[in-house]
Amino acid sequence: MSESVNVTIIYYSSTGTVHALAQAAAEAAEKAGAQVRLRKVAETVPPEVINTRPEWAQHVADTADIPQAVLDDVEWADAVLLGTPTRFGNPASQLRAFVETTGPLWFQGKLAGKVYSAFTASSTPHGGQESTILALANTFYHWGGVIVPPGYTNPVQAQQGNPYGTSHVAGTGAPGEESLGAARHQATRVVEIATALKAGRVA
Ligand SMILES: Cc1cc2nc3c(=O)[nH]c(=O)nc-3n(C[C@H](O)[C@H](O)[C@H](O)COP(=O)(O)O)c2cc1C
Repeated sequence: MSESVNVTIIYYSSTGTVHALAQAAAEAAEKAGAQVRLRKVAETVPPEVINTRPEWAQHVADTADIPQAVLDDVEWADAVLLGTPTRFGNPASQLRAFVETTGPLWFQGKLAGKVYSAFTASSTPHGGQESTILALANTFYHWGGVIVPPGYTNPVQAQQGNPYGTSHVAGTGAPGEESLGAARHQATRVVEIATALKAGRVA
């Protein structure tokens, strides 16, 4: 039997959309046999700004028990999934701020050879979902990672339609079965490929 893999899902979410995708991915990765850590990144916006939007303040309260990502969560992982809302076609600064703390791990070569994959949400269908995921992929290249996109490797991809990574259109409401199914598929595929890589290295 192959050794189980460690998967860390690190995300930022203001109003719960990306959190819902991250949660679905975490459950699917666990179901696929991985050890899983679900981690949010630190909020950088002051409470007085968050409190101007009740749904943002509510989400912060609802996810208070989710541990904040630290470097060990990345070092521990065989595979890392990053999730972020689209912000003007790019990842949220909160997620970038965490990514930019990984320099010491990168310097020691500890980010290379892991599996990486990314997912996002935007208000509108053409609001920059692919550019956000590709922006994260720039970092994965620098880390020397093995990028695992969902492609069209499952029928859910034909409905959900983003081969770069799960992408929910938040303007249509909270993620439903299509987007959650895509997140589950992406995480399952990440586990399968990370497991095969790990088994190959052991052999
Ligand atoms: C500063 C800012 C920039 C945004 N830029 C975009 C954008 O470029 N395209 C888009 O469709 N939505 C944009 N949005 C909407 C967010 O992507 C959307 O609210 C988010 O995906 C919801 O995810 P969450 O519930 O996890 O926070 C932006 C929102 C903010 C606050």
